[in-house]
Formats: sequence, structure tokens, C-alpha cells
Amino acid sequence: MKITVIGAGNVGATTAQLLANAELANEIYLVDILEGIPEGKALDMYESMPIIGSDTKVFGTNSYELTKDSDIIIQTAGLARKPGMSRDDLLVKNAEIVSSCIEQAFKYSPNAYYLIVSNPLDVMTYVAMQVTKLPRQKVFGMAGILDTARYRAFISMELGVSMQDIQALILGGHGDTMVPLVRYTTVAGIPVTDLISKERLDEIVARTAGGGGEIVKYLKTGSAYYAPSAAVVQMVESIVRDQKRILPCSVLLQGEFGYNDIVLGVPVILGRNGMEKVIELKLNDEEKALLKTSADHVKKTIEEAMALINK
Ligand code: APR
Repeated sequence: MKITVIGAGNVGATTAQLLANAELANEIYLVDILEGIPEGKALDMYESMPIIGSDTKVFGTNSYELTKDSDIIIQTAGLARKPGMSRDDLLVKNAEIVSSCIEQAFKYSPNAYYLIVSNPLDVMTYVAMQVTKLPRQKVFGMAGILDTARYRAFISMELGVSMQDIQALILGGHGDTMVPLVRYTTVAGIPVTDLISKERLDEIVARTAGGGGEIVKYLKTGSAYYAPSAAVVQMVESIVRDQKRILPCSVLLQGEFGYNDIVLGVPVILGRNGMEKVIELKLNDEEKALLKTSADHVKKTIEEAMALINK
């Protein structure tokens, strides 16, 4: 297993370290445009492996040549948000960065899975699909696991119970219009609506939708990276170990939930064959309306991105 992480910033470096610590690859290549940074961070990680007890080798580079024949490419390069910015404010610059990185990586690894992390996430995943022309089984984005993790953490804080007992699902775009499905949220099998009042749940849902922004406000110079990186690792592990976990990921819809030619967060099975299946579930009218608002927003941003790329 050879994994390439493009972008040696906060998300990229943390992801590479977590993957190496978990020995999910034999080799990890960290790529960045900055000189010395990917090499330095990679060597530092490599040198931590004897202590961690992992045999993963970590290399840093500015060149895509060394990433040849990677099994998985993780795209994290791009601008991160600053206070007051929405993920969509990153569109112009990140569309350019993502298409250029993916184009170069694809030249050397045409058979890889492409896992997109750069924001605005659903749109960048769509851009990566356009560049590679790969089927949706091979190109998908990380957002739903992160959003769901935030939601689960907040419910755990509220109830004072283990986070592991909280099961939840979030659909839609990775942004303020995301759709947490309260109806499908359970705590050790108990519907969350039996345990938390509607008013409090509404507040928790709102905090979840603004969860990324809450971190940006504290950090001031960038955005979240511990939870995003942990979410990427969960996706990689499901593929590498063929776990076939059901995880919310951003994928191209082909009729599911009534949508086509749009990338949105939906539950999927991730295994050795990549995104193996989209799981459809029955939504009520309110959930359908929320998903439509989210889809309309993502669709509009995809159109903007495609106009920029085709210019
Ligand atoms: N090629 C390679 N690397 C690039 C390129 C490029 N064309 N352009 C920028 N980078 C690198 C930067 O040099 C930097 O090291 O991407 C890295 C981004 O790192 P950070 O600024 O720390 O941003 P990070 O927090 O990692 O977020 C990256 O992930 O979650 C999303 O919204 C976030 O889009 C952002 C991305």
C-alpha cells in the first residue's frame, strides 16, 4: 500500500502522521509546493516510527514522480479559511490548486483512489472527477464523517455519555446547509429525541453546522485539522482493510435521492473497491426540503467552479 498526501500543511501532515502511526501503508509520500517543508515533516515522522512501533516509511517531496503508482491519493492542498470566511470563499483559488495537483498526481497514478479534503469539499470533489474522468467508485470526498463526529461529540457533551454509543447520520453539502438527520440519531439504540428536548437538539444541530467556523474563530490563522484528519484515516482504513463500513462521504449522485450530476454527502459502503455502494434511505418531506436547499447551493457553486476552470 502506497499512499500520497498532497499538501503538507495542518491537515496533510496530521493525516500522514495518523496513517503512519496506524501502519495503514508501507510508504507515505507527502507532497507540497513549499521547499523543504514536506521533506522535513516527513523525515521527522519517519524518525518517530521506531518509537511508535510502525514500519511505515514517510517521504517528503516537491515532485509527483516519486508518487508513481500510489494506491490512494489524498488531496489536502489549498487555502484554509480565516475568520469571517465561508468555505465557498476559497473557491477560486482552491479550484485552481486542486485541478493542478490532481492533474499531476493522475499522470503518475491513474489507478489510484482519490480522496478529496480541500474545501469547498463537494465542489472540489466534482472538480477532481472532471480532471481524472474516473468513475465515482474512485473519487470521493471527506466531510460527512467530520460533521457527524462534531454532532456526536456535542450530543455526548450534552448527555455525559460515551461518544461511542452515539450513532448519527448527516447528509448534504459540507457547509451551513448540511442536513443532520435527528430522526436517525440514536444513543445506544435509544432515539435521541427521547433524551434531549427539541430546543436543545436544534441548538446542537446549529452548532454542528457552524462547527468548522467555531474552530476557525479560535485559531484565527487557519481551520480545523485534528478531526478532519481522523475522519480521513477512518475512510482509508475502511478501504485498506476492506471493512465495508457505512460512512457518510461526498460522492457523485446518479439518481439516488432524486439527484444527478452533483456531489453530495450520503451514506456509502467503503471497501477494497472504493466507494462500493450508495445507501439510499427514505426521507420525510422536511428532510427532502433541507436536502434540496443544500443541493441547490452545491449545484450553483459547482457551476461557478466549472466556469472558472473552463475559462
Ligand atoms: N501544490 C501543493 N501544495 C500546495 C499547493 C499546490 N499547488 N498550494 C498550496 N499548497 C500547500 C501549502 O503550501 C500548504 O502547505 O497546501 C498546504 C495547506 O496547508 P494549510 O495552510 O495548513 O491548510 P490546511 O489546514 O491543511 O487545510 C487544507 O483542507 O480542510 C481543508 O479547508 C481546508 O482547503 C483547506 C485544506
